[in-house]
Amino acid sequence: MSKLEELKLELKNLGQEYAKIKTLRESERKAFGEQVNRRKQELLARIKALEEEASSAKVSPIDITAPFAENAKPFTEATGTKHPLTVELDHVAEIYRQMGFNVIEARQLDDEFHMFDSLNFPAGHPARDGYDTFRTTEGFIPPAHTSTMQYRALTRFRDHLEKYGQIAVVVPGRVFRNEDVDATHEHTFYQCEGVFVSKTATLGQLLATWKNFFETYYGQTLNIKTQPGFFPFTEPSLEFQIEKPASLGGKGDGWLEMGGCGMIHPNVLKTAGIDPEVYKGFAWGGGIDRLVMLKYGINDVRYFESGKLEFLKEF
Ligand code: DAH
Repeated sequence: MSKLEELKLELKNLGQEYAKIKTLRESERKAFGEQVNRRKQELLARIKALEEEASSAKVSPIDITAPFAENAKPFTEATGTKHPLTVELDHVAEIYRQMGFNVIEARQLDDEFHMFDSLNFPAGHPARDGYDTFRTTEGFIPPAHTSTMQYRALTRFRDHLEKYGQIAVVVPGRVFRNEDVDATHEHTFYQCEGVFVSKTATLGQLLATWKNFFETYYGQTLNIKTQPGFFPFTEPSLEFQIEKPASLGGKGDGWLEMGGCGMIHPNVLKTAGIDPEVYKGFAWGGGIDRLVMLKYGINDVRYFESGKLEFLKEF
């Protein structure tokens, strides 16, 4: 029973005390009556006080149609800000949007088919072990790269080939790898995947597309370099490097590895229901955390997932 309920019960019971007056001797009646009355006044006052307190503590209903309530708190440091990776992921998506790409978000739990089979990893191939994938006891896979979204991007936008003559999609997403964590390795990080398909897609367009993205992101022209790579889902496959941007202390002599890319393997197109005899595609994918670390001079990738307020308050 709450204090308020207790007091109300006592007030109710006080009625019986009045009835007792008649049973008392004449000389005792006055004093007893006064005593009961005093208690009654006391109880009424305390009940009133408690009821007022309770009603003022009640939250007034929110009018969601009001743009700003008069007493609304302004957004301050104390209300928080967007995480630097969220801000940069939005920025990355916006650049690609302006280049004409659709943007879809990656999943955070996936399966063997999207992680490997749809990407032309042969069953039992050692390349399946190269991604340090986590697995749930039910056999699901938290994606180790955003390439898991290639099949979904291709099938979801397949009708664009007829309608617009091309598929153009980028997929930012969170990825997970079971590896040792240090200043440059996190088990949880972000990538952005790109997929483009048309009848005339070329490797030159791939390089120009990704170069253009980096130049827009860093706000300056950049040299690029590629090296042969290997990914089962592209043929040929390349590793993509950019020159360290001058605004970040580069002098045209340092190269930064930004990710992998290549012409989409015919088997990947075929699995997604696209005829590789008619259409060609290119794909690319790279880390976002490194991009952001470079931009802001952040020297430890672990800060991103640490929840450290001193770090987050700088953004
Ligand atoms: N998914 C690869 C990785 O995380 C990077 C990559 C390589 C993405 C080639 C692509 C690609 O789209 O075509 O290592």
